[in-house]
Amino acid sequence: MPKIIIHKNGEAHEGEVRPNSNLVVRAGIRQFPYPHLSYGCGMGKCGKCTSRIIRGGEHLPAPNWKEKKVLGEHLDMGCRLICQLWINDDLELSQDGIPAITPPRPAAA
Ligand code: FES
Repeated sequence: MPKIIIHKNGEAHEGEVRPNSNLVVRAGIRQFPYPHLSYGCGMGKCGKCTSRIIRGGEHLPAPNWKEKKVLGEHLDMGCRLICQLWINDDLELSQDGIPAITPPRPAAA
């Protein structure tokens, strides 16, 4: 079972999740990492789930187009959109000190 450590508000929270788990989906049904994970839309649009990967990032898939669009240069700082990731391996992440993400606006018609 993947072990998850999430750093939030200066505290570390640890728990296990089933393989192929989405942490935002889990939080939405009040399972760990609830209530420690910040998130919003769950669809890769708002940026509220942005987390900096501390350990285990080598097991994650390459960022998808939504992550590239919302995170931009924050990807280079090790940030990912947690709602876009299905977790199969141990992962340590932080939502402390994340720069504000301003999602791009849709182009005017
Ligand atoms: S929850 Fe909105 S982008 Fe992840």
